[in-house]
Amino acid sequence: MTISKELLRVTDLSVEFYTDHGWERVVKDVSFSINAGETLGIVGESGSGKSVTSMALTRLIPMPPGRIASGSVVLEGTDLVNLDDDGMNKVRGAQVANIFQEPMTSLNPAFTVGEQIAEMVRFHEKVGRKAGWDRAVEMLTKVGIPNAALRAKEYPHQFSGGMRQRVMIAMAMSCTPKLLIADEPTTALDVTIQAQVLDLIKDMQSEFEMAVIFITHDLGVVAQVCDRVVVMYAGQVVEQAEINDLYFTPAHPYAEGLLNSMPQIGPRSGRLASIPGSTPLPSSLPDGCSFAPRCPYVIDDCRQGEIPLRSIHNEQSNEHLTRCVRAGSLRFLGAS
Ligand SMILES: Nc1ncnc2c1ncn2[C@@H]1O[C@H](COP(=O)(O)OP(=O)(O)OP(=O)(O)O)[C@@H](O)[C@H]1O
Ligand SMILES: [Mg+2]
Repeated sequence: MTISKELLRVTDLSVEFYTDHGWERVVKDVSFSINAGETLGIVGESGSGKSVTSMALTRLIPMPPGRIASGSVVLEGTDLVNLDDDGMNKVRGAQVANIFQEPMTSLNPAFTVGEQIAEMVRFHEKVGRKAGWDRAVEMLTKVGIPNAALRAKEYPHQFSGGMRQRVMIAMAMSCTPKLLIADEPTTALDVTIQAQVLDLIKDMQSEFEMAVIFITHDLGVVAQVCDRVVVMYAGQVVEQAEINDLYFTPAHPYAEGLLNSMPQIGPRSGRLASIPGSTPLPSSLPDGCSFAPRCPYVIDDCRQGEIPLRSIHNEQSNEHLTRCVRAGSLRFLGAS
């Protein structure tokens, strides 16, 4: 697989929701880019803003109560934030497709899976009924549904959880999108099925040369599928790195904490650590670094004003960004 030209660039994306406390910013100045064919992981604990970020890319956040407060999402020269609804509908499904943890959020229980895939193909590609149906059967076959021609005539509830996830992938792939956004696609599945679905996404990716944004709280899954990783904490990017740099030389104590709480990667001490405390609510963020209250390395400087995301030196000169004032002077523990 060749990793080449830039496909999507997100710049200073901020998302707010209107709540009892007024407008609350849950995603703050998030920036990253993804190249054609590349796999970018977004990791972070529950509530860190992974789903809101990914949904904002194709404007799937409910507005109201949500709004994109600032920023741009440029897909091959077009800013999706300012695109009209008609234009956005043409992008969704055809150029950027989403798959979610719960397949039933994408599948309509009232229609057969074949009809749903065919309908999507007909909408985007203006083909006839038969061509749409044939594509549906072809895609269901590709994702490993046995007897696809027959099963295409069944309804979503007639499929098991793992098979339904395959159906959703078939639907997402049916118009050969340039970017697939997969939000915890394997979290609800048991481990064997999870591995099969990950393999399927990888196969589809190389067949269609598609870029993937893979959202998960599981760094083990990230290690299996991603080229680069964005680590989010309390709505901000706190670290961004190539996968090996993040694993072996993390540059933020939060990333260190995530790595050391993973049984697959294992702590050097031999005892599994967990990060004490929990993610702060958007309404009660501390001054300075949002992670400071939980950080074992905190010093006074950490509590002074906004901490910028900055580049750190790296021998391979790959881009490695951190939002820690102590990175560079401290060495954090990576995978052993
Ligand atoms: N519709 C909404 N109204 C108000 N706040 C919301 C809404 N949707 C999300 N939020 C808030 O935005 C923040 C980020 O949520 P998000 O769903 O992006 O987290 P996440 O990182 O995907 O977590 P998880 O791992 O649990 O899926 C949370 O504080 C959440 O409560
Ligand atoms: Mg989520």
